[in-house]
Amino acid sequence: MAEERIGFGLFGAGLVAPFHAKALQASSKTKLVAVAARNAEKREKFASEFGCKGYATLEEMLADPEVQVVNILTPNDAHYEPVLQCARAGKHVLVEKPPAVTLRETDGMIAACREAGVKLGVVLQCRVRKPIQAMRAAIAEGRFGRIYHADAFMKWFRAEDYYLMNPWRSSRRAGAGVTVQHAFHYIDLLQYLVGPVKRVYARMNNLAHPRVELEDTLLALVEYECGAQGVVEASTALWPGTDLRIEVNGENGTAIMVGERMETWKFKDERPEDEEIRRYGSAEQVTGATGPADFGFYDHQILIEDMVDAIREGRDPIVPADSVRPTLEWALAMYQSAKDGAAVTLPLADEEAVW
Ligand SMILES: NC(=O)c1ccc[n+]([C@@H]2O[C@H](COP(=O)([O-])OP(=O)(O)OC[C@H]3O[C@@H](n4cnc5c(N)ncnc54)[C@H](O)[C@@H]3O)[C@@H](O)[C@H]2O)c1
Repeated sequence: MAEERIGFGLFGAGLVAPFHAKALQASSKTKLVAVAARNAEKREKFASEFGCKGYATLEEMLADPEVQVVNILTPNDAHYEPVLQCARAGKHVLVEKPPAVTLRETDGMIAACREAGVKLGVVLQCRVRKPIQAMRAAIAEGRFGRIYHADAFMKWFRAEDYYLMNPWRSSRRAGAGVTVQHAFHYIDLLQYLVGPVKRVYARMNNLAHPRVELEDTLLALVEYECGAQGVVEASTALWPGTDLRIEVNGENGTAIMVGERMETWKFKDERPEDEEIRRYGSAEQVTGATGPADFGFYDHQILIEDMVDAIREGRDPIVPADSVRPTLEWALAMYQSAKDGAAVTLPLADEEAVW
């Protein structure tokens, strides 16, 4: 007999919500039960498009016994209270990235979900890309030998309209800015692969969005605890936007992911499976370089299905929130460094000073 589908509710009906809805509808393990959004017009349109219930408030959706997991799809500074409410209601949570804009709130969510015995996963879908999983496995096996460099290059473009679409998109305090918003995925990949980070020196500026008071460009030099060094270049000012690159270089091998495909996979100890690993990913799949909705929902589906499996198997989801805390700390350290014009050593002494 087929297992019963797990019911999901979405909180927020903005840009990212259709990606979650499509992933939930495409999966045989899940059911999109409801959306909760305060804007009646958006909510009704979304509910009718995706054939689910519409609730005006999160409280109402949490009272629905069919909803077992809630995906938090509100702006970055509006994740914390909703996650706490879900935990109190005994619902599992998948929260969009970054989990919160402060470490204090991130710690609060982790503790609340742990106490309530519910799962807390973060939507950092790039971690599940096959090239990244292959790099992580090769690092764990020691195939790279000593890792010398780990870098991220995200040369993207967002028009100024994107930042002016909603107030939160141009507010540092709300969690906007290329570092904590767009590049968060890729600094997270570096952290996931070769972290933790020991020291960082960052420079931030605004090259191409004069009506917005945010950094649209980040340049950073990084020292990792493992002895490797690296750079992060991230921008939304570089028209037309090109595929991101993640590069890892060690004494015995080099791996480079471009977009979601493996571009380079070369080790001194070539193995039979390497030929197949070189074919991972596709150049056809867009990964966000040119516009805010230029990506697919497949990676979201993997995380959503993993949440179902985590619930059934009684294990952590593949991207547990505590594994993302160091990424947020690194991002905040970059803001601190750019503000001070000096390198910052982690752990961050005072996260409030960042603002
Ligand atoms: N994983 C990814 O690739 C990806 C892509 C895009 C966005 N995101 C993340 O998804 C989240 C939402 O982003 P978006 O682009 O959909 O934003 P959006 O502004 O388009 O939509 C946000 C939704 O939340 C509602 N909302 C706004 N403020 C609220 C508040 N204070 N309380 C309750 N509801 C509120 C809005 O009405 C809207 O329905 C963010 O955390 C963002 O970082 C992730």
